[in-house]
Amino acid sequence: MVIIGLNFGEQIVGELQANSTIAVVGVCDLDEAKASEVGHQYGLRRYRDVSEVFGDPAVEAVGLFVSPDVRPALIGRAAAAGKHVVTTKPFAHDGAAADLSLDAVRRAGTVLVANSPRLLPGADLDQVWTWRQRHDLGRLIALEGRCWASYDEVPDGTWYDDPDLCPVAPVTRLGIYLLSDMVDLAGPPVRATAVQSRVRTRRPTSDTALISLEFGDGVLGSVLCSFCVDDGHPYANELDVVFERGRVRLATREGVLTARLDAVGPGSTRITEESSWTGGPYDYPWAEVARMVRAGEPTPPQYARRLRESAALVETLRTLERGARSSEPAPIA
Ligand SMILES: NC(=O)c1ccc[n+]([C@@H]2O[C@H](COP(=O)([O-])OP(=O)(O)OC[C@H]3O[C@@H](n4cnc5c(N)ncnc54)[C@H](O)[C@@H]3O)[C@@H](O)[C@H]2O)c1
Repeated sequence: MVIIGLNFGEQIVGELQANSTIAVVGVCDLDEAKASEVGHQYGLRRYRDVSEVFGDPAVEAVGLFVSPDVRPALIGRAAAAGKHVVTTKPFAHDGAAADLSLDAVRRAGTVLVANSPRLLPGADLDQVWTWRQRHDLGRLIALEGRCWASYDEVPDGTWYDDPDLCPVAPVTRLGIYLLSDMVDLAGPPVRATAVQSRVRTRRPTSDTALISLEFGDGVLGSVLCSFCVDDGHPYANELDVVFERGRVRLATREGVLTARLDAVGPGSTRITEESSWTGGPYDYPWAEVARMVRAGEPTPPQYARRLRESAALVETLRTLERGARSSEPAPIA
């Protein structure tokens, strides 16, 4: 695999050094100095540009860690060259561009995987449905997610500064994982509103945001994300899944994922159960990608649909962002 995009992608180069299923053979970035530095540090070939990567028959796959505005076109080119792709969130900032890249992947029969939406059903979401059935928790009522970290960012001319590429920024950057999980649990939202503010960072985009969502069957949701909070657990994700007769809290902290059920059983008995797993829910599924490539399995159509839905989520955030800027009503249909 060649890693393209070496800002966050540099971390992936490091992560894959200890991976026995995928071998990184080279790196590529528009910034030649960065590519040379990372290539030198890890003893990897530096590819001049993506054309050189896509034209190299020795390269089976690419890790695409570029910004979401350029991602779909590069996925399309990679697929046309027969290269498998592992990429990151947000999958795309535009539904039409997402469609083009997904069509190219379908035609090529290649693998396309991102860390969110998840390729494999997570043990945590499975646990939610298991408890719901086992304890007759009733209808889903609400989904309430939170995620924060503490940044002190300044403008740097990247996509993070552009409200159109990075709409409702804390949600596009951090909350998108929770949003995708909510779609797994409740289907795509039918309506959304947003409020956002910039409390302390200096980018033109917001650093704290709250979105409210309406899903089918009257299920309501909210996601609160901020870059201004330090509670000692950076990037901790919490998601409350609220049913008629119980609540499941999913929480990820420092690589440990926990699920806790508080519910009411027959005769008003109290039920509590807990499960935990190591490894974050949004880790890159390297082993599964390697298995799919070896087995010649293409991207599953249902996963391609989830990727398309995640692009639609970003489009929704863009609509909200534009509404917020122009003072037009924020709700969308
Ligand atoms: N935990 C995670 O999974 C995680 C963490 C951070 C960022 N990300 C995601 O990673 C992606 C990249 O984030 P970032 O902060 O590194 O963005 P960035 O814009 O700062 O960096 C992107 C890099 O890609 C390079 N690039 C762009 N187009 C290229 C091209 N055609 N050929 C070669 N190189 C090219 C740029 O020169 C730059 O170095 C984003 O989608 C972001 O959301 C994921």
